[in-house]
Amino acid sequence: MIVCESIEALRAERARRTGSLGFVPTMGYLHEGHMALVQRAVAENDHAAVSIFVNPLQFGENEDFGAYPRDLERDLALLSAFVDLIVFTPSVEAMYPHGFQTYVQVEALSQGLEGARRPGHFRGVATVVAKLFNIVQPQRAYFGQKDAQQLAVIRQMVRDLAFPIEVIGVPTVRAADGLALSSRNSYLTPEERAAAPVLYRALCAAQARYAEGERDAEALRATMRAVLAAEPLAHVEYVSVADAETLQECEGRLCGPALLSMAVRIGRARLIDNIVVGVEQ
Ligand code: PAF
Repeated sequence: MIVCESIEALRAERARRTGSLGFVPTMGYLHEGHMALVQRAVAENDHAAVSIFVNPLQFGENEDFGAYPRDLERDLALLSAFVDLIVFTPSVEAMYPHGFQTYVQVEALSQGLEGARRPGHFRGVATVVAKLFNIVQPQRAYFGQKDAQQLAVIRQMVRDLAFPIEVIGVPTVRAADGLALSSRNSYLTPEERAAAPVLYRALCAAQARYAEGERDAEALRATMRAVLAAEPLAHVEYVSVADAETLQECEGRLCGPALLSMAVRIGRARLIDNIVVGVEQ
């Protein structure tokens, strides 16, 4: 494993490698979900790279940039299992030097769901990912399906700006009780952690109704809300049934694949999760 702290060092390492490179952008505090992305990148390419960068641009003023969990030493120990891996750990100053003023905005796809509750979030994500793509020059890039809107925004950006990169969505990794793995799960107290699988239970309840033939978007939203309402520690920000491609909220009867998603606050943690219905698995 080679750790590069500067853009220059990363470019030099990249230039030494021919063949395909698979890239996993992360904000660190790695868990099994990240490791599943790294394993795919390693298995499907000649070389692989991981970035660890807590991107200030994608956090709102009242969000958790300062508190976001960080443990570089532990992350590097986990990644050291991969012999030829390049790990990129740039500083904020390297990514956003004084005078930085160029941003990437993916328009419609960034508006709803997370974008509506976190203004500027996807502008921050698209900007940092575009810059990382330019620096790392991967052939393939791996993102978790847990952040479904992020994945859609990145795919759109890659199409629109003609990055020669294949974007690969990797299924959400869950704990045995269904909770989607997330660095922010570390905010949960033991009592809150016990409550947190309610998100997945709500999604599964709606998925079951869909499997029984329910196609009314509001009925599916109501199913999810009812499960969440039974958990006193869960404070619902939104529950959504949206078109899986456009991410526009569905009204009336579903006529294609739909993204069932939600954001729920449990204690200090803002948790998101989703399931897609209406596609062949
Ligand atoms: O999903 C994340 O961890 C981040 O949004 C990403 C893609 C690394 C960009 O900072």
